[in-house]
Amino acid sequence: MAVNLAYRLILFSLVQWALSLEALTPRASGTEAYSPPYYPAPKGGWLSNWASAYQKAHTVVSKMTLVEKVNLTTGTGIFMGPCAGQTGSAPRVGIPSLCLHDSPLGIRNSDHNTAFPPGITVGATFDKDLMYERGVALGEEARGKGINVLLGPSVGSLGRKPRGGRNWEGFGADPSLQAVGGSLTIKGMQSAGAIASLKHLVGNEQEMHRMSSVITQGYSSNIDDRTLHELYLWPFAEGVRAGAGSVMMAYNDVNRSSCSQNSKLINDILKDELGFQGFVVTDWLAHIGGVSSALAGLDMSMPGDGAIPLFGTSYWAWELSRSILNGTIPVERLNDMVTRIVATWYKMGQDQDYPTPNFSGNTLDETGPLYPGALISPTGVVNQYVDVQGNHSITARAIARDGITLLKNDGNILPLRKNDSLKVFGSDAGPNPDGLNTCGDQGCNKGVLTMGWGSGTSRLPYLVTPQEAIANISSNVEFYLTDKFPSSVKSGPQDTAIVFINADSGENYITVEGNPGDRTTAGLHAWHNGDELVKAAAEKFTKVVVVVHTVGPILLEKWIDLDPVKAVLFAHLPGQEAGWSLTDILFGDYSPSGHLPYTIPRSESDYPESVGLLSQPFGQIQDDFTEGLYIDYRHFLKANITPRYPFGHGLSYTTFNFSDPKLSTVTTLDTTYPAAREPKGSTPTYPTTKPPASEAAWPQNFNRIWRYLYPYLDKPEDAAANSTKSYPYPDGYSTEPKPAPRAGGAEGGNSALWDVAFSTQVKITNTGSREGRAVAQLYVELPGSLGLDTPSRQLRQFEKTRILKPGESEVLTLEVTRKDLSVWDVVVQDWKAPVNGEGVKFWIGESVADLRVGCAVGGCSVLEYYD
Ligand code: NOJ
Repeated sequence: MAVNLAYRLILFSLVQWALSLEALTPRASGTEAYSPPYYPAPKGGWLSNWASAYQKAHTVVSKMTLVEKVNLTTGTGIFMGPCAGQTGSAPRVGIPSLCLHDSPLGIRNSDHNTAFPPGITVGATFDKDLMYERGVALGEEARGKGINVLLGPSVGSLGRKPRGGRNWEGFGADPSLQAVGGSLTIKGMQSAGAIASLKHLVGNEQEMHRMSSVITQGYSSNIDDRTLHELYLWPFAEGVRAGAGSVMMAYNDVNRSSCSQNSKLINDILKDELGFQGFVVTDWLAHIGGVSSALAGLDMSMPGDGAIPLFGTSYWAWELSRSILNGTIPVERLNDMVTRIVATWYKMGQDQDYPTPNFSGNTLDETGPLYPGALISPTGVVNQYVDVQGNHSITARAIARDGITLLKNDGNILPLRKNDSLKVFGSDAGPNPDGLNTCGDQGCNKGVLTMGWGSGTSRLPYLVTPQEAIANISSNVEFYLTDKFPSSVKSGPQDTAIVFINADSGENYITVEGNPGDRTTAGLHAWHNGDELVKAAAEKFTKVVVVVHTVGPILLEKWIDLDPVKAVLFAHLPGQEAGWSLTDILFGDYSPSGHLPYTIPRSESDYPESVGLLSQPFGQIQDDFTEGLYIDYRHFLKANITPRYPFGHGLSYTTFNFSDPKLSTVTTLDTTYPAAREPKGSTPTYPTTKPPASEAAWPQNFNRIWRYLYPYLDKPEDAAANSTKSYPYPDGYSTEPKPAPRAGGAEGGNSALWDVAFSTQVKITNTGSREGRAVAQLYVELPGSLGLDTPSRQLRQFEKTRILKPGESEVLTLEVTRKDLSVWDVVVQDWKAPVNGEGVKFWIGESVADLRVGCAVGGCSVLEYYD
């Protein structure tokens, strides 16, 4: 009987596996990708804008013992405190345990917090003020809960794979859009004193097989140097330039070296070239080597556990103390790790009355174990239910509303009138029938889809559903909130059907309706037979409005051209204000002003084959980024494929005219490469002698918590005595600092890269009869004289008007930097721009396919406009 059951289970799993493979492209052909060594780890503190923070850190770190230092580098273990992770502390010198907690859209697993719309909706607003405002609000909420490091924003995944599970946490499938969204979020968050952790560096473009563990190895994202610089690294460079205090490494390998111990990525690119002064943290449980990661530049291990969580093992903690005492890891490296952490803490002003955690990410109960991961734990008050929402619902609603993207509006069927006869269909318009927040980390798709699932979520403090909001406004509405079209419903010529459909995705540790994070089963289709629901409504009604809540592109082909389907609104992922933000648009209080942060294709086969999901039973997946720079719209343009809706598309209830374009030179690009970098400043110095072994001894009468990760050793003198044993240092290991890379110089790189080269202006006039906001998107076309194949359009800047009344105009200024016009020269290892901007074309329009004005050095012209 039991054998029979086991047999059926195995058979079932095999069938599941085979089915899932069907949805996947074959594995990439396996390259000999290689990540060259880069040692030693550059020390932090050489930039003047961090000098005072580093000075303060130096004073404190100079007084710290070995175990105090180690304490700050290592998490105390998963579930060993209120936060997703917390470091040990050094109370003797005034440094508390640091709380690191999710998420990029609000405080995860907590109470009395705002559930903001996630990055993808923020990206769709193309509104820099809202991007910043949300960042400030996130920072305030983190501070209010006592979170030192808020784990966001996410700018990787970039959205290379349309089925990728976590694209929605970021701002869209374009490096500049991600860069602006990420940087403004960081600036906002850190203005409130919270440390931003910019994540995930880099190449974490699919969820499945992302992690290495004792039984498996995460995939390797094999990315060539140019693609890395021009696409995937771009938003990280801008985020570092914005002052990000922390960077989280991705789970996967890059060029066959695990990100958490990839010396090329951390030591060379992040710390030397991008001049990153903060600290580098692992993704959770991504730590796979103690000495190797320390030498490669890692500064903090989270949540501190070793190969198997909760076993009380660690690659660092006491093992780091041991490696220092036996001389394997230079004491300078530990000093640099700690100095970076403490300096970041000072830089954000967290020494000035920063609260300690007053919440628990583990429970909503008021009291409970202080260390839930320990078998026996002291108990106490773990939740004080501090209300941190302030008036942030206003920002949350504004983002959800201004992100709503009108794809189609035949016959100006929208906006609706309050007394229109409405019939509303689809479970996505209503509440989760099981109740609010009933699925942990939003790991289900029931009712209106407000966010994806996984660690990038928060609990909803409340939810205004579309049903509630529509019922509140409409005087004539019937609701049929099922996903199967009710055959009994009657329709008349005056009726408008509003059909709600959705598409979800999330993080790999939760599988929802057969989708392990990535959209393996659902593909790019609407969930819950959404296509059928729209088609059925279109058979019965002559006027159909489709509202889509989605994590990314979905295929609309089954119904988009049906005559009754007059209007389509992409409401993306709206967060807690789903209902009000939608009715603001549906009933015309505001004109839609969102624009697509990705392309909507006609068929999934329109994408390059290399951006499909990869899966294989054994061995490491080699994910070769063979499409290079050509993802999303860059690919569609190159392949000359007309998508269903282009990147940047979004209609309004009014129309806009673009006129009077102007281009002026601000800083002459008189050289191909930027001016020589600024020299590196000095870094704090400490004695390089090893600390006495006694510093790592357990304190007397110490009350140990089981499985808690401590820095102490049972026999520290043995560790010190073992110093003659040789450690197999990685190839290329050296303690001799490398010459400063020429592309570096300041946070983000050589500051000359951000010289504004050109300033463009365009006058935008509301030529319709309703109020509205326009977005000007600036795409550059780089000349062939650079000698490299380059996408024909690349978004580099955007601005949004205020609300313009009919007939009103606003002049927008869009600035373009040297870097915006550069390609990465892999030989010279620097950014190369066309001298004087010769041959560059600047296109400004309402989408990548709807360009309204064109400029080049010497003049601009207004393009013919095709509606
Ligand atoms: C894993 C996720 O990849 C990361 O984004 C998150 O911040 C950590 N878990 C902590 O929850």
